[in-house]
Order: sequence, then structure tokens, then C-alpha cells
Amino acid sequence: MATFHAYVHVPFCRVRCGYCDFNTYTATELNGYPQTAFLSHLRTEIALSLEQVGRRELKTVFFGGGTPTLLPASELVEALSVLVDSFGLAAGAEITTEANPDTVDEKYLRELRQGGFNRISFGMQSAVPEVLATLERTHDPDSVARNVFLAKNQGFKTSVDLIYGAPGETMDQWKLSVEVALAMEPDHISAYALIVEPGTKLARQISAGEKPLPDEDLQADKYEWLESRLEREGFHWYELSNWSKIAEGNSGHNMAYWRGQDWWGFGPGANSHVAGRRWSNVKHPSNYAQLLVDGSIPSVDIELLTETQQLEERAMLGLRLREGLDLDVVKKLNPQCARPVSEMVAEQLIDGRAALQGRVVLTLRGRLLADLVLRKILGL
Ligand SMILES: C[S@@+](CC[C@H](N)C(=O)[O-])C[C@H]1O[C@@H](n2cnc3c(N)ncnc32)[C@H](O)[C@@H]1O
Ligand code: SF4
Repeated sequence: MATFHAYVHVPFCRVRCGYCDFNTYTATELNGYPQTAFLSHLRTEIALSLEQVGRRELKTVFFGGGTPTLLPASELVEALSVLVDSFGLAAGAEITTEANPDTVDEKYLRELRQGGFNRISFGMQSAVPEVLATLERTHDPDSVARNVFLAKNQGFKTSVDLIYGAPGETMDQWKLSVEVALAMEPDHISAYALIVEPGTKLARQISAGEKPLPDEDLQADKYEWLESRLEREGFHWYELSNWSKIAEGNSGHNMAYWRGQDWWGFGPGANSHVAGRRWSNVKHPSNYAQLLVDGSIPSVDIELLTETQQLEERAMLGLRLREGLDLDVVKKLNPQCARPVSEMVAEQLIDGRAALQGRVVLTLRGRLLADLVLRKILGL
């Protein structure tokens, strides 16, 4: 039986960062939707979801965005308590919120901690003012260390998100950001290669020649340097973009996604995956609210996954993990996989010893070429 998890998408941001295409809205983009109404709409969706799935203990809850911490702490705590009263909470459940560094202070963090949150993930991105400016991040870099320190003092597990490969970012600037992040001694670090998403301001600036395209070779060098630096500091990778010091420090919520467990995504644009069905909510908060007021689940694109789709999803997600992918899953999708598997062992893209034990586990080289490995093992 799959475990059950909740994701709450809070679709509000003060300003939109130039590189971001997440489902989030600034005040002017809300078309009159009042942010103050969000909690009541969430309550309605939680009540409807309970009718659909029945009471199932939550193993993790994750508030993401957008910027969840633009809501008052009391509203995040209230949303959490509605979820817990409705579904119940497993012992030792992980309760996380993402936070933009300049949206919290000691009082805010204390209220979250007392309200049941036990993990917080800060969007640091970089420690270098020029890089933050290129990314159009508005926070003061010093606020990250201050808030990580305050959060740790209050007993939160902490994580910081970094981005590498911003246009013009040098290797030295990247190294500095990593050193600053390490000096904060977080429990967990996520590092994402900057993706130039079509339709973003960054994509327009790059096609107009105002900013250079991220250099792929330099991005790979940054990843390799990061891996060796984090290993030296006792951090181990457990997913392509995620490192922690101990297994208990892994993001239990994200592990649940990657292992294909069940989760309900609440809020505009959130995705859900329950009992082999997958769907996403409508994107704009006004449309989301209207459907809920009409008594409907605010979702579109409900899809019953075929067995093949479920296996493909397991392959795609499992390959990203250090625990790797069961070779039996690959064999079901591609009965001719023995040859590409042994070729990729020879090319040092996948680990030979793990392959003998029936698992496909990426080497460091393979992690840089994960999409290619996936295509090859599936014979695509
Ligand atoms: C969507 S944000 C939400 C949390 C919060 N608003 C923040 O910015 O930290 C979550 C993470 O996604 C990552 N992200 C967003 N857009 C990205 C992109 N185009 N390329 C790489 N990482 C991206 C950032 O590292 C960010 O920390
Ligand atoms: S990166 Fe975070 S703060 Fe920036 S627009 Fe996206 S969700 Fe908002």
C-alpha cells in the first residue's frame, strides 16, 4: 500500500524572478483574486479531497510555491491543522515549507515551529549580489544565513536551494556561493542547473542577446566541483540535485514523489497522483476558486495511467536516485536492454557492481548525462 502525502501550492510572489515559470502570480496578475481568500478555498478543497480518498494518515506535508511565506504564519499553521484534522498524521511526519529568505523573521519562524512545521527550505540561489541581480532575486543575501541560524535554533531541519549556471556566473562565484551555504551548516542542500524556460523574461533577454546562454560545459564543471566539495563536507547525493548528510536528512516528501507514492496536490496548478490516477488543478487562482465555489474538484486532465505509463514513470524517476532503478522495471519496458546496459557499464555511465545486483545506478558521469542513459536503456 502506497504512503500518502500532501503538497500545498501557494501561488503568490511579490515579484516574478526573470527565470521562473512556476504557477505563481504577483498582485497585479491575480485579476482581483484576494490572497486573503486562499485559506478558505484550501479548506474547501481539503473537504472535497477527503470525500474522494477517505482518511489516510499523512506521512509528509510540503508547502511550496510561489512563496508560501507571503501568507501570515497563522494561515500556514491553520492550513496544516485542517489537513491534520482531516487525514491524521503519521508518527514522525515531516512538515516542510519553502521560504523566500526575506519573508520570515524570528517571530514568524517560532509561530510555524509551534504550529507543527519541522523543516524549512530557503531559496538562497546564490551568495553573490551580481548573480542574484542577474536572476532578478530581490532578497538581501545576508538574510539567508540569519534565517537559517534562527530556524536551526528553533529546532527546524534546514535546507537551502542553490542555482548554478546563471548567465555570466563564473566558477569562482559558484564556489563562493557553495562555501557560504556550507558555512550555514544546513542539513540538506538542493542545487539546480538553471533552466532557461521558454516564455520567461530570461529567455527573451537571451534571444535578444542581452544575456549569454548558460554554458553547458561550465555547468557540468560546476556540478562536478559541487559533488566533490559536498562529499568532502560529509554530504551525500541521494537524488541528482539533492544532497544530505544522513538518510534521515533526505527530503521525505520528495522521495515519496520519486518512489511513486500517493499524494494530493492542493492549490492552483498543483499536481496529484493517487492510486494510479494523475491530474492537475486549474492554474489561475480565480478559476480554481470558482470551481470550488461550484462544489467541483478544481482539476483538469484526469488521467488513469496504463501499466506501461506507470513503469515509464518509475524508470524516469528511479534513475534520478542514488538507490537507482530496478533492472526488472527496465526489462519490462525494453526486453532488449541487456546490451545497452553492458555498453553503459563499459562507458562508465552506470555502476557495474550495482548492475550485477539488478539495479541501474548512475555514476558521476552518468548523472551528467541522465537523459541519454534513460533513452538508451529504454531503447528510445
Ligand atoms: C519555484 S521556487 C519556490 C520557492 C521560492 N519561491 C524560491 O524561489 O525559493 C523553488 C526552487 O525552484 C528553483 N527554480 C525555479 N525556476 C528554476 C529554473 N528555471 N531553473 C532552475 N531552478 C529553478 C529555484 O532554485 C527555487 O529555489
Ligand atoms: S523563483 Fe520563487 S520567488 Fe521567484 S518567481 Fe519563482 S516562485 Fe516566485
